[in-house]
Amino acid sequence: MKALPGFRDFYPPSLAVRQYLFETWRRQATRYGFREYDGPPLEPLELYTLKSGQEIVRQLYNFTDKGDRAVALRPEMTPTLARMVAAAHREYKKPLKWFAIPQLFRYEKQQRGRLREHFQFNADIIGESDIGADAELVALAIDTLCALGLTRQDFVVRLSDRRAWARQLERLGVAPEQHPAVLDAVDKMEREPLEKTQEKLAAITSRGAEVLEFAQRGQPGEELAELLARLGTLAEFCRVDYRIVRGLAYYTGIVWEIHDARGELRAIAGGGRYDNLIALVGGVDLPALGFGMGDVVLTELLKERGLLPAYRPQLDVYVVIADESLRGAAWGLIHGLRQAGCAVDYALAPAKVSKQFQQASALGARYAVVVGATEWQAGEVTLKNMETGAEERVAASAIATRIS
Ligand code: HAM
Repeated sequence: MKALPGFRDFYPPSLAVRQYLFETWRRQATRYGFREYDGPPLEPLELYTLKSGQEIVRQLYNFTDKGDRAVALRPEMTPTLARMVAAAHREYKKPLKWFAIPQLFRYEKQQRGRLREHFQFNADIIGESDIGADAELVALAIDTLCALGLTRQDFVVRLSDRRAWARQLERLGVAPEQHPAVLDAVDKMEREPLEKTQEKLAAITSRGAEVLEFAQRGQPGEELAELLARLGTLAEFCRVDYRIVRGLAYYTGIVWEIHDARGELRAIAGGGRYDNLIALVGGVDLPALGFGMGDVVLTELLKERGLLPAYRPQLDVYVVIADESLRGAAWGLIHGLRQAGCAVDYALAPAKVSKQFQQASALGARYAVVVGATEWQAGEVTLKNMETGAEERVAASAIATRIS
């Protein structure tokens, strides 16, 4: 039987890639002073129906549980974070800098870079309205991608601002109730032919041409100019691009996405300011902002650029039992090595010595320890360095110290 469409089986080599991403995400977040948190994968349905916007609600994995509760698998982390912060913010000094690596579920049409299950590095700052917080998050995202070996030639941070859009639409005389429809058309414009966007805009406003002109102009407003200044040398990774408005409904200020430089893949990351969400979810007025970086597109990009580490399974020692009558003695030795902190494996059933050595190589063992009759009588074993092939006899009692 296969996994459900859009869900992933992680065999050891692909799990090693996932772990590599997680370790890099954790290391970078920690360097930036973020603390890790987590929440439940299943949430009340209304956490999303009220706040995230139509697109994500359409993609929900929701059902009624056995207690007749309407529930959903989390499609994103932000509403969970807002709920948690609203409930417990008094216990923490602001600003909070928190990160998580949740597994998320969206009933999306399966395509390149889009699955029904993905992991996302989320970093958020709560309780800081200064633009320094926006800069901190953009910098963290850039440094994280650089730590994975990507460079300015590989990705671009596209910066935009919902407030600049609101001001512009107001200036153009577009009625406030039409703003969401205009921004939705802009959000989709890169994935649709220009004529389609023009048609959509024309149906909403007579100022469609000016809207398009603004989307394509890319001149920083006051806030984005300040953000670029705060980013210092990292501003080189960024471009002002008002075509980015973000599909999620809760954003209120600067928003941004990271894309591969050739524009061939879906977004690698996206985020922005959502100053009203915590009040909506939990009645507590706290400014907030953050981003999510998915593992699917990122893994594709790293693979394309040859930046994924080779899969090298590792083992400290493989114990070769050359004489079956010594299995009990060998087991004592194995247990002692494991107690001493070594990663140890051995043949669980009788096997030829050559087969055992083949297995030692396949498992990436650094050493083989051969337990044979003659040596054992002298209280010794043979230690073989699997890389150099060098062999020596070592006292069985000294083997753990010798290896570690
Ligand atoms: P998002 O743009 O929906 O934002 O997702 C962020 C990233 O997650 C995307 O850029 C993409 O790499 C990845 N992603 C999203 N959906 C899928 C999917 N179906 N398959 C594979 N990868 C996917 C959010 O989720 C916001 N909650 C981020 C945020 C945090 N904003 C503030 N704080």
